[in-house]
Amino acid sequence: MNEQQRKEMSHIQTDQNNKPLHEKTSADFAKYFEATYEPPNINKARKRGRDEIEVHYDFEVPEDMRMIGKGKHFLIRTYGCQMNEHDTEVMAGILTEMGYTPTTNTEDAEIILLNTCAIRENAENKVFGEIGHLKPLKLENPDIIVGVCGCMSQQEGVVNRILQKHQHVDLIFGTHNIHRLPELIKEAMFSKENVVEVWSKEGDIIENLPKVRHGKIKAWVNIMYGCDKFCTYCIVPMTRGKERSRLPKDIIQEVRHLAAQGYKEVTLLGQNVNAYGKDFEDDSYRFGDLMNDLHKIDIPRVRFTTSHPRDFDDHLIEVLAQGGNLLDHIHLPVQSGNSHILRKMNRKYTRESYLELVDKIKQAIPNVTLTTDIIVGFPNETDEQFEETMTLMEEVGFESAYTFIYSPREGTPAAVQKDDISMEVKRERLQRLNALVNKQSAESMKAYKGEIVKVLVEGESKKDPDVLSGYTEKNKVVNFKGPHSIIGEIVDVKITETRTWSLNGEMVDQTVGVK
Ligand code: SAH
Ligand code: SF4
Ligand code: F3S
Repeated sequence: MNEQQRKEMSHIQTDQNNKPLHEKTSADFAKYFEATYEPPNINKARKRGRDEIEVHYDFEVPEDMRMIGKGKHFLIRTYGCQMNEHDTEVMAGILTEMGYTPTTNTEDAEIILLNTCAIRENAENKVFGEIGHLKPLKLENPDIIVGVCGCMSQQEGVVNRILQKHQHVDLIFGTHNIHRLPELIKEAMFSKENVVEVWSKEGDIIENLPKVRHGKIKAWVNIMYGCDKFCTYCIVPMTRGKERSRLPKDIIQEVRHLAAQGYKEVTLLGQNVNAYGKDFEDDSYRFGDLMNDLHKIDIPRVRFTTSHPRDFDDHLIEVLAQGGNLLDHIHLPVQSGNSHILRKMNRKYTRESYLELVDKIKQAIPNVTLTTDIIVGFPNETDEQFEETMTLMEEVGFESAYTFIYSPREGTPAAVQKDDISMEVKRERLQRLNALVNKQSAESMKAYKGEIVKVLVEGESKKDPDVLSGYTEKNKVVNFKGPHSIIGEIVDVKITETRTWSLNGEMVDQTVGVK
């Protein structure tokens, strides 16, 4: 298709069979939803191919829906990871193009969306609690639209439970259907039935979706979607589909654009950023190459999350060692310190190979800060196996860790395993681990006493409006007094006091930002 044809085509929204949506009737829609609602299936997911990834640049809110939200408000509640937060920014962008304005008050909202997370049971429970809370509001005002989206919607069991027990939910859509929001809202407005659209087909990347970013200092940038790692405890490969990388030129353009708008920091997002580029036909351009290209862009800070130890190659280490805007903090989830448990988790590395990787990283980047994620109480984890997680925590010297009790997720291989370890034992282990995490965090903080650090100032501290708060290059929170005019700037702060999870300090040059 040439450029002219593309332009002419771009205002026509089509469904998967290329039938323009504006020509469809309600009956068509009903059939369409039935035909496209296919619950995700792990066996099918495992067989998914690398082909058929199409990149689209022609998203547009259809003309008849551009003013549909004029004078109306939307509210999106986000549960879950950075990926979900960024999806919320995209949905906010689409709703804004439809004329809606944001509100933080449920009573004022004509559209309420819950952008959900399925990673652990307590994440799901929170959402079901909130769905229940919204019922009286919906009964009082039947015209509002209550929608559930995000990772929970990709699960058949969740969709069925909502349809059966929470009939006040008007709209359920999946993580691959976000770009269809305008059509889905229109359908929810005019249909008497619940609208459900969850695609298990995830082949495409839609490039030009609008975004309303949260803040003007730091920005999320997706570099890839999905996950093909199939860790046996994890639901994400089912909720987010197969690995698809955005083209380097699109990522580079987005980061350049953010830099030009004055953003000071970008965080590259992917479930496993080190797998970036593996899905390209010519897979010679990988994450290390992307980081090398971003290194040349004039933006002060580039972070990334999350990196899987398995694909962390030497070239990437070499590139990161250049420093500059590539920061010396690496979040490298280990999950367990025992090789047998790691094998049962399908992590595809051992305690020893993880430690070797850590050594290599430390040699190349001597000042590196490492943080991690750990799961305790994987089915039948013995005391001895757990102790290996404790010793690994110390041996690596992680400065912080997100720690979780294993939560069985329906449809994952680990969930069907018999588990002899009681919840009481798992809780005790978590407490011991957390005590160690706190100790190591506090120790890492102590080393900063008297040091001068560079802080990207984000705003007032939550506790005290007279105090400003920001993050160091290594992602430590620093609180200090200074003028509001330096919000959004990177300033030197001398650390005067250290706590377990934060640092207090004073600005080195007291004249900065003072008019
Ligand atoms: N893609 C990232 C992790 C995303 S999920 C990675 O592989 O590093 C974030 C964290 O949630 C995981 O690192 C893991 O520690 C935790 N997690 C995932 N599934 C879980 C489950 N079923 N129970 C408990 N914790 C889980
Ligand atoms: Fe889940 Fe593993 Fe993929 Fe991370 S790498 S999202 S833990 S399957
Ligand atoms: Fe949760 Fe989905 Fe993220 S399950 S952690 S919101 S990818």
